Amino acid sequence: MKYFSNSINKFLVVSILLCTTNTFALSEQAEEGKELYSSASCTQCHGDIGNFDLKNQKAQNIAELTTWVERCDAGLGTGWFPEEQISVVKYLDESYYKYNKN
Ligand code: HEC
Repeated sequence: MKYFSNSINKFLVVSILLCTTNTFALSEQAEEGKELYSSASCTQCHGDIGNFDLKNQKAQNIAELTTWVERCDAGLGTGWFPEEQISVVKYLDESYYKYNKN
């Protein structure tokens, strides 16, 4: 009986951990995007990502979001590689836009 309740406890702890990481953590690629975004000067104009104007939202889907990231990256001369732009798109999407809900 003791063994039984121990394994139930372990099961609960593992399930809770899995749920929390799934809900709150960014994917690895988005984490990388977060660093890119905050180390470039995007924040000069956009501040924290919460400052993207929801009402006036120009990026209505992932494709438009990607275009905006490319456009602002080019404007700023950050010179991100395409994979880096994708990481930033993932970061903005996972933490703010949520167009790609997988
Ligand atoms: C010189 C100022 C400036 C800088 C620096 C800048 N942006 Fe922008 N960005 C803008 C403006 C202006 C818009 C258009 C927003 C609007 O009109 O609502 C925009 C729009 C965007 C949008 C679409 C917002 C929406 O409405 O959905 C994204 C995403 C974005 N920028 C990402 C970035 C990223 C990533 C960087 C860093 C590489 C960056 N921006 C740097 C000025 C800037």
